[in-house]
Amino acid sequence: MMRFATTIFTAISAAVILAGCGASGDNQGTEYAPNMYHSVAYEPYTQIVDKEAGSWLTSIEYPDEHAEFFNTNQFNPNHMNMRLPAPNTVSRNKNGWLPYRLGKDSLAYAARTLKNPLDSTAAMIASGKLLYDMYCDHCHGAKGTGDGKVASGVTIEDPEKGKIEKGAYNGVANLTGDALKNISEGHIFHVITHGKGLMWPHGSQISVEDRWKISMYVKTLQK
Ligand code: HEC
Repeated sequence: MMRFATTIFTAISAAVILAGCGASGDNQGTEYAPNMYHSVAYEPYTQIVDKEAGSWLTSIEYPDEHAEFFNTNQFNPNHMNMRLPAPNTVSRNKNGWLPYRLGKDSLAYAARTLKNPLDSTAAMIASGKLLYDMYCDHCHGAKGTGDGKVASGVTIEDPEKGKIEKGAYNGVANLTGDALKNISEGHIFHVITHGKGLMWPHGSQISVEDRWKISMYVKTLQK
């Protein structure tokens, strides 16, 4: 009797589990914890246009009367969530700054013509220092003399070989040396953006306005 009950139970469980495997096309099959699969936010690639979808789960009274899984953009053409920008426009960053358009090979032009658009105030320089300490100090050093930890490397104690130098990044420029101390803020800005020689670009990590703040601060180190 016991064995018979076990067999029945196994058969029913298998049937229930297999019924969940019927996914195809628009039918996602039976889902465990379905609200983990269905985004409440608009998604670029999934459009659940059926207003009744997920109604069995709906616990909230929606003002626009749709059920749990409906997540279609009702305002854009073809229910698209992403739209092309207006023609002939350039997008600005969240603080309203236009992107920097001069290419890497225009260093001399940038150095000669660009002016720092930010007012030189104590607060701006302090902000530049904060950013410099985050993005430049480890190579160029706190005073800009090219002796950051990454440049000088660290000496570690190896049990077999004794003291060894590790992680030195060669050729980090001394920003306060004669060769560089008279470079313009535009020059510094351009180098931060595109990198130069052995230095990698930072344009994708640091916003336009922050790069100008750093350039301003580097000038104070060079005085
Ligand atoms: C991974 C290490 C590293 C980091 C981080 C780094 N630099 Fe450099 N930087 C270098 C090296 C190496 C050079 C020398 C490049 C060359 O001439 O090949 C250099 C050169 C420069 C120069 C001189 C460019 C010239 O015209 O010769 C400036 C200015 C400069 N860096 C500014 C900065 C600023 C500002 C930051 C922070 C946003 C920064 N660097 C972050 C490694 C670094």
